[in-house]
Amino acid sequence: MTYFMQSKFLKISLFFLVGLVLSCTKNPSNDPETNNYKPTPYTLQIPAGFPEYNVLSIANPLTVEGIALGKSFYFDPILSTNGRSCNSCHFKENSYSIPIYNAKNGFKISVPPHVNLAFKKNYNWTGSELSLDTLCMGDFAPEFFNSDSATLFAALSKHPFYKDAIYKAFLINDIYTLNFKQLQKKIAYSISQYLRTKISINSKYDQLQLGTARYTDEEWEGYNIFFTEKGDCFHCHQPPLFSDNDFHNNGVSATFEGFDAGRWLVTKNNSDIGKFATPTLRNLSFTAPYMHDGRFKTLEEVVEFYNSGINYSPTIDPISSKKAPSYQLNLSTQQKSSLVAFLKTLTDDSYVK
Ligand code: HEC
Ligand code: HEC
Repeated sequence: MTYFMQSKFLKISLFFLVGLVLSCTKNPSNDPETNNYKPTPYTLQIPAGFPEYNVLSIANPLTVEGIALGKSFYFDPILSTNGRSCNSCHFKENSYSIPIYNAKNGFKISVPPHVNLAFKKNYNWTGSELSLDTLCMGDFAPEFFNSDSATLFAALSKHPFYKDAIYKAFLINDIYTLNFKQLQKKIAYSISQYLRTKISINSKYDQLQLGTARYTDEEWEGYNIFFTEKGDCFHCHQPPLFSDNDFHNNGVSATFEGFDAGRWLVTKNNSDIGKFATPTLRNLSFTAPYMHDGRFKTLEEVVEFYNSGINYSPTIDPISSKKAPSYQLNLSTQQKSSLVAFLKTLTDDSYVK
């Protein structure tokens, strides 16, 4: 399909989707026992100012039952043969980030939090996945769940809750009518529906926008460094996501072995060496250590890096190299603490409770 056809197709699907939402909300007999049962469409409350929803999700519209099923799966080791669930790596108290994961290929990975994922355009540090629906499929692999077809079919078909919940979400009466890949896809769809509802919008920064919280003088000083040419953080870490959904080399490395090669690992394009997806800065208080490999343990170390530790390399972003040849922001000790204080106001405590 050409891009034009694709976008036209999406518009037409959206039209039908809206029609479906309108017709289903009035369905008087939405009872799983009767033949006219349909899953209940769910409308995501998108906060004001948020960017467009990831359009690839249109193939997998949200339903109340799909989200509930996905939430159960997320926390349940039933999908794996090794006792793992999604939550055994993505910890709730860390805003579902992963402090450090030692991957089989030797990469050390510090995974950003699950917040506002529905609005991302690339997933994983290198942007190796474009949709949550496909990303979740990867978790059945030996390195993650090591799932086994016979075991999974048997466990789910015997399970009173899942048997019923899979019908309610996807109208599948008998999972044995699916092959293993089709079953994985339905599971992944439900989990991705759940993930798309995980919106974090209750930080002190958000409350400031609503006029329900006030910044201290120190937080205001940090705010001004962040949002002006002084620190120039906001071009890449754009509110409200605090990411521009793009890839940059912000100068963390001077040489690019292994995982440090970043986006290049996916595109093999030399202009992508050392570039990583700009991470959100929301919930940083729960997501230490920082950067793709967790090289900085504290926010103070991160700020000192931007202040005086930028490494030059050919693909460095023009914003990060603006201060050449010194590459120093020349922030005072007080200004550095203020920037850290501002970054902490992007944390939403209610999200991990
Ligand atoms: C064994 C540990 C492990 C398990 C189990 C696991 N993950 Fe992950 N997950 C990771 C790692 C590591 C990454 C980061 C990969 C990268 O960036 O290269 C990741 C990345 C992600 C991302 C992308 C985040 C972003 O901001 O781009 C999502 C979403 C995600 N996982 C969801 C899930 C779901 C859903 C499950 C369960 C079906 C799951 N994970 C199970 C380790 C795990
Ligand atoms: C040129 C774009 C760009 C600019 C400018 C920029 N950043 Fe970043 N930032 C990134 C990228 C890309 C990463 C991830 C790099 C990596 O992991 O190697 C990152 C990572 C971070 C992290 C770690 C987040 C995590 O989850 O690990 C913090 C904190 C951060 N930046 C704060 C700032 C602050 C504060 C400023 C301003 C002084 C700033 N950034 C300026 C692109 C940028």
